[in-house]
Amino acid sequence: MPAPPDTRPATQHPGPTPERLRAALAQVVDPATGRDIVAAGLVGDISVRDGLVQVSLLTDRARAQAMEPVRLAAERALSAVAGVRNASAVLTGHKPGAQPAAPSSKPVLLPDVTAIVAIASGKGGVGKSTTSVNLAVALAQLGLRVGLLDADIYGPSMPRMLGLNRKPEIRGDKMLPLEAWGLKAMSIGFLVEEETPMIWRGPMVMGALEQMMGQVEWGTLDIMLVDMPPGTGDAQLTMAQRVSLAGAVIVSTPQDIALIDARRGVRMFERTKVPVLGLIENMSFFSCPNCGHESHIFGHGGARAEAARLGTEFLGEVPLLLDIRTASDAGTPIVAADPDGEAARAFAMIAKRLWEKVGTARSAGPKITMS
Ligand SMILES: Nc1ncnc2c1ncn2[C@@H]1O[C@H](COP(=O)(O)OP(=O)(O)OP(=O)(O)O)[C@@H](O)[C@H]1O
Ligand SMILES: [Mg+2]
Repeated sequence: MPAPPDTRPATQHPGPTPERLRAALAQVVDPATGRDIVAAGLVGDISVRDGLVQVSLLTDRARAQAMEPVRLAAERALSAVAGVRNASAVLTGHKPGAQPAAPSSKPVLLPDVTAIVAIASGKGGVGKSTTSVNLAVALAQLGLRVGLLDADIYGPSMPRMLGLNRKPEIRGDKMLPLEAWGLKAMSIGFLVEEETPMIWRGPMVMGALEQMMGQVEWGTLDIMLVDMPPGTGDAQLTMAQRVSLAGAVIVSTPQDIALIDARRGVRMFERTKVPVLGLIENMSFFSCPNCGHESHIFGHGGARAEAARLGTEFLGEVPLLLDIRTASDAGTPIVAADPDGEAARAFAMIAKRLWEKVGTARSAGPKITMS
């Protein structure tokens, strides 16, 4: 596909174009076919931003190991292009139009977690982290063994929201997750100081995420929620690639006009063949702490209608409540601070629906019963 014309002012560095990157990739040969990887149709999406390049290489899962040298060669070729500050190539498990991977393909990481659910959105600041934390506590209150993974490497939220500033203990060659509010949690924020500038780049994001999955002693869990960073970048690809996701939950607010952003989040997961389990509308209405009156400031029912249109489930709505924010900022999730309050009731209902949904999605697998 031809790239759109570069309309930026000439004073800005033009940066590497997809054409130049593609030309560099054409220098890499796939040993299996002897053809260059562009001609062989192995090059998927190319994204470039501020000199950071990410490319997906389409391959069958069975060939993933054999493709590793090709992936590395692709990264080297991309890094050599003028203006590239960092390049990462990732293997994506399917060729376009190919059948989803056979059920026998093993999840690579976190095999002892029954259901891994990504909490995502199309845009930032809609309340993914708030939702992840409170849903995780609500799931733990259902008696489930719950893990919470902060996949936001650039801006981790868990230390503040869970009120945790300890360093994880090391046991053998693994780290122990921190425990709070009935759940196990891991975040890059437990490992580095808050003030440390996080100049993480693509491959480092993937490396850090993979370590937080593979080198942490999570034990056996019923469900793990993964608080995704905003956008559709490295972390999303890593998750889609390296674990067997039960699905993704999209958080949206009513003011995302026509929920275009929510749709983008849904599409991103569809592309990676991760099922979207449902939509949550956050900051759905303003609930007056004094009189209990509900004000639908940004209209009402958009997410429910959108869920129906996208063929996914509406999992519930969470009111805009000052207490939700103050509790988060104070390091005690509102569901734990006020388990009988309005927010806790909303999250409890969503937690039940989500767990049912996960159970249904996995009905072919082992039966999960809820206490
Ligand atoms: N239902 C709510 N009521 C009141 N405040 C809320 C609610 N949901 C989220 N907030 C507040 O909105 C802000 C953004 O929420 P949060 O950090 O969870 O969003 P996010 O989607 O994770 O953001 P990012 O994309 O930056 O990771 C926080 O200050 C949070 O306390
Ligand atoms: Mg967040």
